[in-house]
Amino acid sequence: MADSQRPAEHILITGATGGIGKAMAEQLVREGANVYVTGRDNEKLKALVDHLDTMRREGQTILPFCFDIGHLTKVKDAMTAISKLPLDTVIFNAGVMFPSPRAVHDDNHPALEDTIKVNVLGHFVMARHLVRDREEREGDRVLPHLRFVVISSTMANHASQYLTRWPREADSFNKFFSRHLFTSDGWLSYMDSKLGSIVMAQHLNEKPNTSAVAIYPGVASTEIFSAMPWVQRKLLSWLPASWRPTMENVDTVANRVIGEAVRSNGIFDGHWICDGTKVIPTNVDTTQKDKFMRFIEHLTDQFM
Ligand SMILES: NC(=O)c1ccc[n+]([C@@H]2O[C@H](COP(=O)([O-])OP(=O)(O)OC[C@H]3O[C@@H](n4cnc5c(N)ncnc54)[C@H](OP(=O)(O)O)[C@@H]3O)[C@@H](O)[C@H]2O)c1
Repeated sequence: MADSQRPAEHILITGATGGIGKAMAEQLVREGANVYVTGRDNEKLKALVDHLDTMRREGQTILPFCFDIGHLTKVKDAMTAISKLPLDTVIFNAGVMFPSPRAVHDDNHPALEDTIKVNVLGHFVMARHLVRDREEREGDRVLPHLRFVVISSTMANHASQYLTRWPREADSFNKFFSRHLFTSDGWLSYMDSKLGSIVMAQHLNEKPNTSAVAIYPGVASTEIFSAMPWVQRKLLSWLPASWRPTMENVDTVANRVIGEAVRSNGIFDGHWICDGTKVIPTNVDTTQKDKFMRFIEHLTDQFM
C-alpha cells in the first residue's frame, strides 16, 4: 500500500518534551501520524504541542498528557484518558539516568528509587492498563494489534547481577538503589532498569495481539546526561577512547528507532535490537525473567 493510502497511525510517545522523544514526535508528525505526547512539565508540553502544530496537516491529531511517570498513582489517573485512544503503537521513551530532585514533585511520593520507577515501573503500569482496558472494551471481538517499542540501552548488557534480588516491597527500594556519589549505585540502577525494560518487552510480547520490542537507540548528547554527578563524569572521561560510544545527532538516533522499531513490522517478536542486530539478551535466563516479572507485577498491582 502506498504511504498516502495507508490509514494514519496513532502513536503515543512518553517523555516527548526533549531529546530523542521530541525528535521522534517531530518525525512522526511530519510523516502524517496522529501523535500523543507525554511529559511531566506543563510549560514544556505546551511549547512542544505548539511546535508540532506548525508541522501538522489537516485532520492530524496531536494531544498532550501531563503526568510524572515516576508517580505511579498519577500514571494510573492519566491512563483513564490514554486507554481510550485508538493506539497502534506506544513508544516507552521517557527515561532518567542519575535523576535530578525534580523527578519527585511532592513529599508524598512513594519511596521507590526514581530510575526504576520512571524507566520500568511507570511504563509497566501504563502497559498493564492499556492491555487490560483494551480487553475489557473489546470483549469477544478480535483485539486490534498493539505494539510497544521500549527504548533501552547497551548499559543493559552489564546488568543482571541484581535484577532478581530487587526487594519485593516498595519502601525497601530507596535503600537498595540509593544514589551515592562515590559508588556505582547510580549506574547499577540504570543498568538494571534498562535490562528490566527489555524483560518487560519480552513479557508484553506474550500478550494476545500485542507485540513488543526493546531497542538501543544509539548515543546522543541530550539532557539525560545533565544530572550526572561530577565524579561519574570524571570516571567516564578516563575511559579509553575506544570504549567511548560515538555521539550522534539526536535526529539520527530518533530516525533509527523509527526505522528499525516502528516501521519494521516483521521484527516485533520481543527481541532486543542492538546496533541494528536482533538478539536475545544473554544476561537474563527464563527463570530470572519470570521471577523479575513476578516482582514488578507484584509492585505495580498496588497501582492498578
Ligand atoms: N541519549 C542517549 O545517548 C541514550 C542512550 C541510550 C538510551 N537512551 C534512552 O533514551 C530515552 C530518551 O532519553 P534522552 O536521551 O532523549 O533523554 P532526555 O533528553 O533527558 O529526555 C528524556 C525525556 O523523558 C522525560 N522524563 C524524564 N523523567 C520523567 C518523568 N518522571 N515523568 C515523565 N517524563 C519524564 C523528560 O522530561 P523533562 O523534559 O521534563 O525532563 C524528557 O522529555 C531514555 O529512556 C534513555 O534512557 C538515551
